[in-house]
Amino acid sequence: MRALAWHGKHDVRVDTVDDPEIVNQRDCIIKVTATAICGSDLHLYDGYIPTMQAGDILGHEFMGEVVEVGSKSTLKKGQKVVVPFTIACGTCYHCGKHQYSACDNGLPADNQDIAQEIYGQPMSGLFGYSHMTGGYAGGQAEYVRVPFSDVGPIVIPDGVDDEKVLFLSDILPTGWMAAENAQIEPGDTVAVWGCGPVGLFAVQSAFLMGAERVIAIDHFPHRLELAKKFGAETINYEESAVYEALMVMTGGIGPDAVIDSVGLEAHGFFVDNVVDQIKASTFLGTDRTHSIRQAIIACRKGGRVSMPAVYGGFVDKFPLGAFMEKGLTLKTGQTHVQHYMPALLNAIMEGKIDTTFLISHRMDLEDAPKGYDMFKNNQNEVTKVVLKPGFN
Ligand SMILES: NC(=O)c1ccc[n+]([C@@H]2O[C@H](COP(=O)([O-])OP(=O)(O)OC[C@H]3O[C@@H](n4cnc5c(N)ncnc54)[C@H](O)[C@@H]3O)[C@@H](O)[C@H]2O)c1
Ligand SMILES: [Zn+2]
Ligand SMILES: [Zn+2]
Repeated sequence: MRALAWHGKHDVRVDTVDDPEIVNQRDCIIKVTATAICGSDLHLYDGYIPTMQAGDILGHEFMGEVVEVGSKSTLKKGQKVVVPFTIACGTCYHCGKHQYSACDNGLPADNQDIAQEIYGQPMSGLFGYSHMTGGYAGGQAEYVRVPFSDVGPIVIPDGVDDEKVLFLSDILPTGWMAAENAQIEPGDTVAVWGCGPVGLFAVQSAFLMGAERVIAIDHFPHRLELAKKFGAETINYEESAVYEALMVMTGGIGPDAVIDSVGLEAHGFFVDNVVDQIKASTFLGTDRTHSIRQAIIACRKGGRVSMPAVYGGFVDKFPLGAFMEKGLTLKTGQTHVQHYMPALLNAIMEGKIDTTFLISHRMDLEDAPKGYDMFKNNQNEVTKVVLKPGFN
């Protein structure tokens, strides 16, 4: 089959590789009909995530048709499914609490040590996201093996357009969980850093959860326009100082909740960000944490911090004093996708959430390298690239 493989920093290629096979009784194989490139994939593309190996197949946002099932899969051939990016067993202590991204059994035994060493405990597996997260082949491919297919994939009713439901695999539940973690109360003002797919779904979700005002922050005019369409007020951080603007907009109080949907590759020529960049390029540090620092400083006293943004390593200059003295709460994590999928599928079917507005480009899987380059280098216009094998 054809699949997009990582070969190094800014080097991804569509290769011919072996077709996947059923390995465990709970597996299924799906024929991919649509798959998307994620902001998280850019962290791989830019070489920030350790334990990648040349030839690894990327992609964790995908859906398709079931073409093979193991003897303990509950799926049937021919069903259309969306697959969550988190690989979770459904039966361990954490899955029992619906904390699927904390599953104890998502990683193959020989990959457990890496996460255990860095994080203290192994995490769930992730599709197409380095050997630290299981080394699973991803879904930017013609076919993909889905472990625990009796727990993860959600069956899509006949006749529903792929583009309406594809984002159930990651960014829609991620934006939703980001807003839920912000513990929004009716009347709240919520500030969202980053108007990428995650930030834009967090904006929509925050309003649905009762926020009165949402303030979206980015520097790309088109992305800020999309946030405005959903009713957000906006700050372009290249035109206004963010902290000062937020104070003016909230009468000196600060937002009730702040959501960091930027992550470890924050842009901007801020002093702390430049220092982070130098440290990362000289292997003295890992993550660029400007946005979470700024969010903590801007949040109102007693407010809530939600951090869907991905960070991977150890950080310094974290405003721990402000965090403690202001009495803030922080919630974060890889999304517990399986937990959110059924309700969000209903919300899509009922027309309460719009997902297709996000797609700016549709391409053949063969053009995936071009898609990565565009998503990386033209973020203003390229809000989401959807790859479809056989698309012309
Ligand atoms: N927790 C999860 O399970 C999960 C799932 C998916 C994605 N993510 C993470 O969420 C983050 C966002 O994902 P995405 O797909 O929306 O990515 P994206 O790269 O498309 O969007 C990030 C946005 O942040 C903006 N930005 C950069 N620096 C900024 C700054 N200093 N202030 C304000 N905005 C700034 C960029 O201009 C861009 O629009 C990434 O870190 C991604 O890895 C987490
Ligand atoms: Zn993703
Ligand atoms: Zn589990």
